[in-house]
Amino acid sequence: MEPLANYNGVIMPLSEVRIPAQDRGFLFGDAIYEVLRIYQGRPWLVDDHFKRLNRSLSAIAIRGVDLGRLRERMLTTIARGKFQEAIAYIQVTRGSAPRAHAFPSDAVPLELLYIAEFNDPYRQDRERGASVITHPDIRWERCDIKSTNLLANVFAAQVAREAGCVEALLYLPDGTLTEASHNSFFGILDGAVLTTPLGNAILPGITRGLVMSLCAAAGIPIREHSLKRTDLPHVSELFLTGTTTEVLPIVRVDGSAIGIGQPGPVTRRLQTAYRQRIENFVSTSTD
Ligand code: PDD
Repeated sequence: MEPLANYNGVIMPLSEVRIPAQDRGFLFGDAIYEVLRIYQGRPWLVDDHFKRLNRSLSAIAIRGVDLGRLRERMLTTIARGKFQEAIAYIQVTRGSAPRAHAFPSDAVPLELLYIAEFNDPYRQDRERGASVITHPDIRWERCDIKSTNLLANVFAAQVAREAGCVEALLYLPDGTLTEASHNSFFGILDGAVLTTPLGNAILPGITRGLVMSLCAAAGIPIREHSLKRTDLPHVSELFLTGTTTEVLPIVRVDGSAIGIGQPGPVTRRLQTAYRQRIENFVSTSTD
């Protein structure tokens, strides 16, 4: 099925959307976005994603977006296309204006969303575990904003792909690992599950937040603590989290095995707990 878009309130096939050439999202990457997963026709963790969307809009001072209306448009578009397993992509730009760097005074934000079927590419990696590389984090100092300025992430993901890996773990000049190019990550060191503290260096991942609460609920020790590259030979387990990856075990980093080179027991428990949450969600009555 072709992705179905909702462009400023008008539903149309994604291929028919025409973005003005002077749109600041196109010219400057002056835009923010969200990606949600839809399970059995129902969008997952909507409140969390819209809260983060709101935070991103405030952070870059895009005003005048009615989030209730945007949410309604998303639901209408999902229903119109009768989507089941899908993703919702939402992007808001500062709008169109003659090209000048500073904010225009009168631009109207552009609101685009689309729903696309999701043919899960991570199924096998979730079972067997995946490989990653490490790569310098050359991004800016506001990685907490979910901005469409993703060139450094794109580069890192491409290097990972060329190395036959699923992701790149990013590290700062002092060796501190931050996150992956489009996923959060967790490591297990001396029995504790560790993940990078929230701050300007990482995106506050929605899946990360849920997995932290799943750890707490299961009595698994969890702490926000940054891992270093030099910790990698000592971690017993490593996994990525993200809207589309869910909980994805990592079994090799830069060619070296993590633990015994297979998904570890804590990762397995968290995968099961995550799946259980989704099953509870899809089996409860619709909104
Ligand atoms: N990526 N870190 C970065 C840099 C990301 O781009 C993402 C999400 C995450 C995970 O966040 P969440 O759990 O909220 O999906 C962490 C999305 C899916 C993307 O760009 O396609």
